[in-house]
Amino acid sequence: MTEPIIVGNWKMNTNVSEAVHLAQQIRQAAEQSGVDHQCSIVLCPPFVNLSAVGNCLRGSTIALGAQNCWTEPYGAFTGEISAAMLRSVGCEYVIIGHSERRTIFHEDDALIRQKMLRAWEESLVPILCVGETLHERQLHRTWNVLESQLEQLLAIEERRNPWVCAYEPVWAIGTGIAAEPPQIEQAHAFLRALLDAHGCTHVPILYGGSITPTNAVAIFSVPNVAGGLVGGASLNADSFVHIIAASIHARATNR
Ligand code: PGA
Repeated sequence: MTEPIIVGNWKMNTNVSEAVHLAQQIRQAAEQSGVDHQCSIVLCPPFVNLSAVGNCLRGSTIALGAQNCWTEPYGAFTGEISAAMLRSVGCEYVIIGHSERRTIFHEDDALIRQKMLRAWEESLVPILCVGETLHERQLHRTWNVLESQLEQLLAIEERRNPWVCAYEPVWAIGTGIAAEPPQIEQAHAFLRALLDAHGCTHVPILYGGSITPTNAVAIFSVPNVAGGLVGGASLNADSFVHIIAASIHARATNR
């Protein structure tokens, strides 16, 4: 069984000195407890702090990731950052299609597909976020939503590249109300079957949405949960490393 993947999405938080401090604290706590060799850990700070955090992580097993990228390699796209630029500052991962990008910045599945292709072209591992809103869940449309969010991507050949899928029910993000383990189990079983049917057996599925040190073991013990995408709780080194330890514990217990 492969090791769990825990991704810290810092969103639009931390100035450069706060980012350096947090990265140093996480690295130190992860190395002291030895979790850094039993889990793939990824930190995704804001763009302007990528270089500084990358420097803090040099020589460690912790990888650097970004929260977004644009579809083109360079050019007149004021305010955007290309996948090639991310690669040049040492990123290995990039989050694509986070629900905040979909809702606030109106990103649709066609644009997200373009971003996935560009990330692959630059040898980044994209972490594709999918998930239903509360309204869609109440209308019993969860499976249709997940399927349609993946449809364009699963139709393309490049899917054989490495990528990670993150199930993030929108109603669980930043609300303090994580999905219940049976809800997570159903969604992950659905996504696993869908991905497997399209030859994507190698794609791990993470859960994201209000993961905390308290609920982490229960969430990571759910079948087909390969790790987590952590927002709020990744801004505190203690809670983030607790969550990493929980993923290792759950993996060992459920082996
Ligand atoms: P949260 O965010 O852990 O704060 O709910 C998760 C995410 O947005 O990826």
